[in-house]
Amino acid sequence: MVTVGFIGWRGMVGSVLLDRMRQERDFNGFRPIFASTSQVNAPGPNVGVEVPPLQDAFDIRVLLKFDIIVTCQGSGYTKKVYPLLKDAGWDGYWIDAASALRMDPDSVIVLDPVNRDVIDQALSSGIKKYIGGNCTVSLMLMAVSGLFREGLVAWLTSMTYQAASGAGAKSMRELVAQMGAISSTTKNILQDPNAPILDLDDAVTTAMNSVVFPTDTIGAPLAGSALPWIDSQLDSGQSREEWKGYAETNKILETGAPVPVDGICVRIGSMRCHSQALTIKLTRDVPIEEIEAIISGANDWVQIVPNTKEASLDRLTPAAVTGKLTVPIGRIRKMTIGPEYLTAFTVGDQLLWGAAEPIRRILKLVLDHLGG
Ligand code: HSE
Repeated sequence: MVTVGFIGWRGMVGSVLLDRMRQERDFNGFRPIFASTSQVNAPGPNVGVEVPPLQDAFDIRVLLKFDIIVTCQGSGYTKKVYPLLKDAGWDGYWIDAASALRMDPDSVIVLDPVNRDVIDQALSSGIKKYIGGNCTVSLMLMAVSGLFREGLVAWLTSMTYQAASGAGAKSMRELVAQMGAISSTTKNILQDPNAPILDLDDAVTTAMNSVVFPTDTIGAPLAGSALPWIDSQLDSGQSREEWKGYAETNKILETGAPVPVDGICVRIGSMRCHSQALTIKLTRDVPIEEIEAIISGANDWVQIVPNTKEASLDRLTPAAVTGKLTVPIGRIRKMTIGPEYLTAFTVGDQLLWGAAEPIRRILKLVLDHLGG
């Protein structure tokens, strides 16, 4: 029986992965072994089948026994362990939610509803590195891959509204702490309906800029604000997050001639849903009805939201989409700039299709491949 080692399953993405695997009753047909970087020998998690005590995730002799390794531990772990494991002669399947190996020539970025053909080809040609994509890119492609497949995208810009979860669990906690700090300093003013609005505004601004406002993790006030920089700075003037839009989209789709993709990535105060405002230059003028049919036919999760105020506010917001596997896309219309310019707005759960779900599904595909 195939042995699958899980590493980093207690963190945020790993926890969502395990939840999804339990929900889908995925823990069958293979032997799961859980490894830890900190709690060796502690009991393993409850996954509905018996599992041995936690193994040492840094012990190469342990890792050598795994046919498949699924890691949500992060790029630091991957960079440290993967080369040692390969040097020790390991020839198993490496499935990774982190970005470290994403752009390696012998890795595939997995998003099977979008690039199942690329994955199938890779499995049959012996590729063994399957890496989850950047959340923003994966969610954008879940929404509009149909248009790419039809050759309708001349170029695309994505202006993002990214959730705190993308920066990690500590950022989510700090965002809520920031909300709490604002709430507690404004409580008295809010209780008085006749209090001048500028007093309320002043209290919020003072709280946000005070030295005790919690910003240790995020580095700036996010609650009540927006942060137009995500990840490191590149010489091109892009942030690394923006660079990934082009690099990963074209790698996932294996586009022969790369499609230009760029935009500005912004952190906002939502918890775990990324939103994106897209501008797409079409390669030709296509009627909206046809565009919507192409978008909605691309996979089982994308959902068109009618371009009305009511539907948009009801179904096209982080509050409405959190915890759901569906990827709604709405505000679809031709721009007044011209008939080949399309705009749309899409929202997706950053921890599901943006992180854990492609990993859960590639594990099944690899297991099927080995079983077959
Ligand atoms: N880099 C993303 C973000 C999350 O900061 O929101 C992971 O893809």
